[in-house]
Amino acid sequence: MSKTEKIFSHKKAIITGGSKGIGKAVAIEFVKNGGSAYIIARNKKDLLAAAEEIQRACSSDTQNVIPLACDTTDMKAFMPLLDDIIRKNGTPDYLMNFVGYARPAYVQDMTIDDFRKHMDTNYYGQLVPILAMLPHFLRERRGHIVNCSSLLGFMGIAGYAAYTPTKYALCGLTESLRNELKPYNIALSILYPPDTETPGFEEENRSKPLEVMLMSETGGLLSPEQVAQKLIAGVVKKRFYIMPGQSRLLWSIARHFPRLAHVIMDGELKKARKKAAGKNKTR
Ligand SMILES: NC(=O)c1ccc[n+]([C@@H]2O[C@H](COP(=O)([O-])OP(=O)(O)OC[C@H]3O[C@@H](n4cnc5c(N)ncnc54)[C@H](OP(=O)(O)O)[C@@H]3O)[C@@H](O)[C@H]2O)c1
Repeated sequence: MSKTEKIFSHKKAIITGGSKGIGKAVAIEFVKNGGSAYIIARNKKDLLAAAEEIQRACSSDTQNVIPLACDTTDMKAFMPLLDDIIRKNGTPDYLMNFVGYARPAYVQDMTIDDFRKHMDTNYYGQLVPILAMLPHFLRERRGHIVNCSSLLGFMGIAGYAAYTPTKYALCGLTESLRNELKPYNIALSILYPPDTETPGFEEENRSKPLEVMLMSETGGLLSPEQVAQKLIAGVVKKRFYIMPGQSRLLWSIARHFPRLAHVIMDGELKKARKKAAGKNKTR
């Protein structure tokens, strides 16, 4: 690498969910380090605005930022889009998946549709791009897939019964593919963001029951830029687990001391219920 070349010079990444929040911050960090990005999301106006912003972070006119409108849960739409990109520009080096959302609610207030929609977007919305990309990575015997789980991908808390299983499912998928694709020189990483200040998080807060809101208040909030920097550092080192902020500590507690994790979470819920009862009384 010459002195002027950056870590991702001549590298290309497909970044699903790249028009907002964590995905957009990752796209900015990727191009700042010399790469080119294809950002994928549904809303065209947001995509174009994001592409302009990401383009401003590029430092060379050989870098491209290409916005592509597509619902990533739709295999029939995604497959030809990807094949077209690859025919014109070659196989990208990275697939980074950030599509996902959460609408917290108590389990008795949700319908089966709420569960299905979460699974459809969060799990299949990241699986479809992988299945479409795999034949190209396998043919070239190279590639790096990054999936986005959550702190709630290794521990469950009240209010997230529809969201949490989708993030556990992504862990299972990524673990399984890590082992299976290693002989083909295809790397896997999984990101576990804690609460992060994004448009998606703002939307999530609108439906959060009071007790759940009080519980999550104790956890702190990262910026999407902090998460993106941690992710890019992890990707460069080909780390499997990428855990920004308090995720690392909580992951260690949940994995090594699961009963302690339950005691902590139950204590947090108890405190939150007490506080919520107090607030409701004063209303
Ligand atoms: N923010 C947090 O606190 C937090 C914590 C843990 C984990 N996460 C995870 O991190 C990821 C990013 O979250 P975020 O907060 O940055 O979300 P965000 O601000 O809502 O951004 C989500 C992005 O995904 C796109 N998207 C959503 N559904 C899509 C679909 N079906 N097809 C294509 N694009 C789609 C959105 O654009 P369109 O709507 O235009 O399609 C947008 O670009 C998610 O997987 C989330 O579960 C977030």
